[in-house]
Amino acid sequence: MAGEMADNVILVGFMGAGKSSVGRILATRLGRCFVETDEMITATEGRPIPEIFAEKGEAHFRALEDEAVRLLALKRGDVIATGGGLPCGAGRAEALRAIGTVVWLSGDFGALYERALRGGDRPMLSGKTPEQAEALYAARRPFYAKADLTVDTTGLIPDQVAAEVLKALRGRARPPRLWPPHPTLSPSGGEGPSS
Ligand code: S3P
Repeated sequence: MAGEMADNVILVGFMGAGKSSVGRILATRLGRCFVETDEMITATEGRPIPEIFAEKGEAHFRALEDEAVRLLALKRGDVIATGGGLPCGAGRAEALRAIGTVVWLSGDFGALYERALRGGDRPMLSGKTPEQAEALYAARRPFYAKADLTVDTTGLIPDQVAAEVLKALRGRARPPRLWPPHPTLSPSGGEGPSS
């Protein structure tokens, strides 16, 4: 159990699932570093994601995600939030599972969509009807479902989701891939200085 928790924790899910907010909370509670693939990409490209989509197109953005996944393989013990489309390319879900424990933040489409619309500029939703966005979610669900763990975020605030993720991680037995375990992760230990 402790070894499991010393691994990278990778959050996947549709836009609006709260991957970034939950990831930040988890990282703080676990005393880990927090990494976002979207952030890695904007830092490399030197411009925001909507501009990358507008100027170079989605295919270019997906190629940048491939590069981000390659870099993620170097991470140890981090909490990683991925972009909503990242696990949905060929071989991506498998690549993520090789890098850490993958957690799908799932939820009812309506709640995710509402949050995604409120949360700023998302090129994959612009120009789409709610029905088209829902079809995109349906098409992506089988990829998200390849995650090691699923936490339903419906009706929960990020703090509660983070608590559910921690519970799910602790309840999961998998042979350790990193050793020694992080000191805050022993079954009797706390969750770090903030808890
Ligand atoms: C995308 C989701 C975004 C970002 C990009 C593409 C997608 O991340 O990676 O706009 O294809 O669903 P969030 O899930 O954080 O919004």
